[in-house]
Amino acid sequence: MGGKAVRVPGPGNAVSLRAALAPVAAGGSWALARGDCLRVLERLPAESLDLIATDPAYSGMNDHMKFGHGRIVGRRSDPANEKWMREFTDSPETFLEFLRLCHRALRPDRHVYVMFDSFSLLSLGHLVRQVFDVKGLIAWDKVRLGMGHYFRRQHELIVFAAKGKRKLAHRAFPDVWRIKRVVRGAYPTQKPRELFEIMIAASTSPGETVCDPFAGAGSAGAAALALGREFVGCDVDPRAIELASSRLEAVSRGEPDPLQSASLVADGAPRFWK
Ligand SMILES: C[S@@+](CC[C@H](N)C(=O)[O-])C[C@H]1O[C@@H](n2cnc3c(N)ncnc32)[C@H](O)[C@@H]1O
Repeated sequence: MGGKAVRVPGPGNAVSLRAALAPVAAGGSWALARGDCLRVLERLPAESLDLIATDPAYSGMNDHMKFGHGRIVGRRSDPANEKWMREFTDSPETFLEFLRLCHRALRPDRHVYVMFDSFSLLSLGHLVRQVFDVKGLIAWDKVRLGMGHYFRRQHELIVFAAKGKRKLAHRAFPDVWRIKRVVRGAYPTQKPRELFEIMIAASTSPGETVCDPFAGAGSAGAAALALGREFVGCDVDPRAIELASSRLEAVSRGEPDPLQSASLVADGAPRFWK
């Protein structure tokens, strides 16, 4: 990491971070808060996190494509419809506020990964450069074809950026990751745990603290615990908190991941992060 020693957080940091988070569920090395990520991030101590790896809830694509009237998920605009996940109000102003709060909460010389769909990448992705030093774009090849009105979607993009200087764990990480998408997961938009394992293995050392402010079913948290890191996260949705907490409890006890029983690495793809 940029020639500087990695600062392993001491117990004092863990105590003040956890107290500020005000978790609704916690274990020895993880904690989850329920609430809007902006309000949660602003109450964390400055420079208390070692990595933010996140997959925000964007409304842009759904608004643009007029999605949200499906037979399965019902009407998106219906406030009583529990089948649609809550979305982040992703105006440029709110997204910039989110990025600035992430920057404040990260220690110096740390990384951030923000996942984008193609619509949000073009409408909001450029804002990351106003706050962080953008280092590159990673293509997640989902291997399995998804939906799409024109070309069927098979990839998503991840903006990789830094606050200060930090090297990756080694020099053999490619910028295309071949990991199968989750099909019929326990939680809508659940992502493969391996995606987060790659980010965490590349950008943190054991014992450091990973944060996902849009935690969903806790895929980033499960990856962090499996790799011996601490995890803090939050979500507005009570179903997400319930699923993520039982998942993190199981993974921290060394039990199989209840929400992803098998590897989603594409057949024959190299496990370059191991
Ligand atoms: C794309 S999903 C994340 C899925 C997660 N990566 C996983 O693998 O399960 C986005 C999450 O953001 C949550 N969310 C929406 N608006 C939020 C907000 N303002 N603050 C925090 N979480 C929010 C949604 O409830 C949803 O769980």
